[in-house]
Amino acid sequence: MADLTLAPDEPAPDAATDGTWLACIECGDVHAPFDAPIYRCPDCGGLLEARYDEYPTFETFAGAGRGVWRYAAALPFDKGVSLPEGNTPLHAVPRLEDEIGTRTLRIKHEGMNPTGSFKDRGMTVGVRVAAELGVGRLACASTGNTSAALAAYGGRGGMQTLVLLPAGKVAAGKVAQASLHGARILEVDGNFDACLDIVAELADRGEAYLLNSLNPFRLEGQKTIGFEILERYHADYSRYPDRIVLPVGNAGNTAALYKAFRELVASGALDSEEMPKLTGVQAAGAAPMVEAIEEGNADIERWESVETRATAIRIGNPVNARKALPGIRKTGGTAVAVADEAITDAQGALASEGVGVEPASAASVAGLRKLRAAGVVDSDEDVVCLTTGHLLKDPDAAAAAGTEPEPVPADTEGVLDHLRE
Ligand code: F0G
Repeated sequence: MADLTLAPDEPAPDAATDGTWLACIECGDVHAPFDAPIYRCPDCGGLLEARYDEYPTFETFAGAGRGVWRYAAALPFDKGVSLPEGNTPLHAVPRLEDEIGTRTLRIKHEGMNPTGSFKDRGMTVGVRVAAELGVGRLACASTGNTSAALAAYGGRGGMQTLVLLPAGKVAAGKVAQASLHGARILEVDGNFDACLDIVAELADRGEAYLLNSLNPFRLEGQKTIGFEILERYHADYSRYPDRIVLPVGNAGNTAALYKAFRELVASGALDSEEMPKLTGVQAAGAAPMVEAIEEGNADIERWESVETRATAIRIGNPVNARKALPGIRKTGGTAVAVADEAITDAQGALASEGVGVEPASAASVAGLRKLRAAGVVDSDEDVVCLTTGHLLKDPDAAAAAGTEPEPVPADTEGVLDHLRE
């Protein structure tokens, strides 16, 4: 397992710019962050991670506004193209908390970001880095949400945007967003993993700047989810949650949350035993991370064939597995697969408490239900479930899971008759 311990007060190497550099998580080599686009270690092909000469404490953030840029002290820049993003609600869901039976259950609803998913947090930082590099065209492969965020943030930043989507497998709301925000959309006759292979090659050939979560700066923005949860939860309960349950596709958020925790541990703001147990949930039809955790493997094996109603996480080759697997293991978490029916049930349960999420998001709650029923999660645990995208992202899934509209005549008596039936 890659050792991802961060060294506090590490002296900045020559390659650093203003105390920021990129380190390979496999071989440890360091690289200049803003000289030219770089996504993987040029020496060994390993994943890169942003490193700093100083890591934040909670006091560093105090009084610094709200949202992603509140956490500028933990980011490579002070501001970027902002719509603004972050500062999402941490909903209480008392009925679901009772039903599942945990000490507390809160829902961190990332669907409340400007384009309706957590991707906005990564894009505000990623597009800032793109501006620093002076690139003209931004690109991503996407199951939908990344393309919506890329189109919105890239467009606002005055850059061209190109997105590759798996044909027929992206929810309607997301394609509409990418389209209206001005992305050039290519529909690929293949799944998400094939799209990402192509975009990564385009990026390597200098055709576009890649803004998938393989880009380490995307994850820097997304780690602010972790800072926000810990700050808000502590403000409400004077303690940190025991566990964070989240849907897993490329495992970017899993890696990003672990990075947030490690930074706080490196600064002394958090004890390593206080890190919430990262608990990943995948759809049963696309669960290579669950397989790796269950079999104790250091890396995932790519699933060539994947299928799930939760199209956002219809992914067979999670690119951030080598960062995320240690995160799950070192925090004492786990990973679990859930059936599509359980995802739809959880989506309905959340919706009945007023929290509207897309199917992939509801996987977190479906996973918690399963793990609590199996006794893996205890009744005395404080749990936060991450819901990653808004209900309106996938109106077809919502309509299929909800009730049918009932046709009635256009008069009050007719309506009353119908109601009495
Ligand atoms: N939930 C939603 C709603 C998503 O859109 C995604 C990923 C995930 C969960 C998985 O997050 O990759 O950090 O493990 N969507 C990407 C996209 C792949 O293209 O929009 P992860």
